[in-house]
Amino acid sequence: MEGVSVRNLADRFGTPLYVYSEAAILSQIRRFEAAFSGLPHLFCYALKANPSGRLCRLISSRGLGADIVSGGEMERALRSGFPASRIIFSGVGKTESELKWAVRRRLLFINVESEEELRRLEGVAKRLNKTADISVRVNPDIDPRTHRHITTGLAVNKFGVPPAAARDLFRRAAKRKHLRPVAIQCHLGSQIREVKPYLSALRQLLSLARSLAADGIPLRWLDIGGGMGVAEGEKGELNPETLAAAIASEMGANPLRLILEPGRALVAGSGALLMKVLYRKASAGDGLLRGPRDSALGPGSASGAWGAPGTRLRRGRGGPRFVIVDAGMNDFARPSLYDAQHPIVPAVLPRGGPKFRADVVGPICETGDFVAKDRLLPWPAPGDVWALLMAGAYGFSMSSQYNSRPRAAEVLVSGQEAVLIRRRETLKDLFALER
Ligand code: LLP
Repeated sequence: MEGVSVRNLADRFGTPLYVYSEAAILSQIRRFEAAFSGLPHLFCYALKANPSGRLCRLISSRGLGADIVSGGEMERALRSGFPASRIIFSGVGKTESELKWAVRRRLLFINVESEEELRRLEGVAKRLNKTADISVRVNPDIDPRTHRHITTGLAVNKFGVPPAAARDLFRRAAKRKHLRPVAIQCHLGSQIREVKPYLSALRQLLSLARSLAADGIPLRWLDIGGGMGVAEGEKGELNPETLAAAIASEMGANPLRLILEPGRALVAGSGALLMKVLYRKASAGDGLLRGPRDSALGPGSASGAWGAPGTRLRRGRGGPRFVIVDAGMNDFARPSLYDAQHPIVPAVLPRGGPKFRADVVGPICETGDFVAKDRLLPWPAPGDVWALLMAGAYGFSMSSQYNSRPRAAEVLVSGQEAVLIRRRETLKDLFALER
């Protein structure tokens, strides 16, 4: 990673370990800024993808804004240098105290997601004798064709309100002294690979914004959310240049300023999760291992339960085969939750050699605990360091202490330097909050 050996990082900081490349994040920011340079815009980084203070400071220092969904993320965003005037607050379930903090701090806008929330927000602003800048989140009922758990803009999803209801909320808000509509927003989902859903949503938002302007409610911002897909398994990324060109032609001469809320696209590719191979095993045949690096049988004599190199893994016949590593679903939940297929490679790439099909599984006591399924892998040996790639987004941020496992450490690499940005949790940390 940049000028640093990840094998050495694993030895120095232990595993499982999250490692991020500063250069990769900066180059992704530059790429998005360049792609959208023809349009007046603001990127609000979705903190949920990776809320590490160090990464957030890096991103805020480049002039981006933040998209937050909780009081905790508000605190993180402000502490890491995002000015309140560039923070937007989304989410269907903001509490009264979260709304209070948001109004006091004068965020760029608060994204209203229901009629009852609008009323509560008005009450809060009135009591504080302040005016809250708001947006209404529209649910455009568009299928972004992604995993069902990360689809948000369908009518069956809990997010936003239908366009007609949104217009009504805007009209009501415009009449209230303590509310000021400034933006219209939608967010379709995550890991979106096509431009089409964005364009359909954009058309709806533009037409709604035009009818609001005709009602005497001019808006300043048009926010089409995040969700720009990155490569995963067989699927490629959503190209920011293509997206920007399509949005620009749809926007035409419209004076609304564009907001995008990329999370994953800015940080996913910068991160890897390092892990160590603990054991190998096969659950069929004689269950014994005979691989090219297992000296007892001599190199190249792969056979037994693992079969000949490259053989397909078939339940019941010759398989399954498992590589057991020290990172589990508590460290990285995406494969278990969304069937995500992240590339996995040895930290030290072997020169040639046979490959074997196996599942890479963690130590958690659940069958759903795996980091990679049915992959063609170089022959592993205990102690090998492996890297799960594209792990910079929704990796550490979704990790937990399940099975009473202290959370992993995080390291930021920049050139030849590697800095520990979050220490590994200890056994003591597991008990720190218990009374
Ligand atoms: N804006 C809003 C309002 C959101 O809800 C989200 C993500 C984003 C922006 C950023 O989306 P992104 O650009 O990162 O796709 N844990 C799941 C992803 C959940 C995303 C939730 N909302 C995963 O690991 O795939």
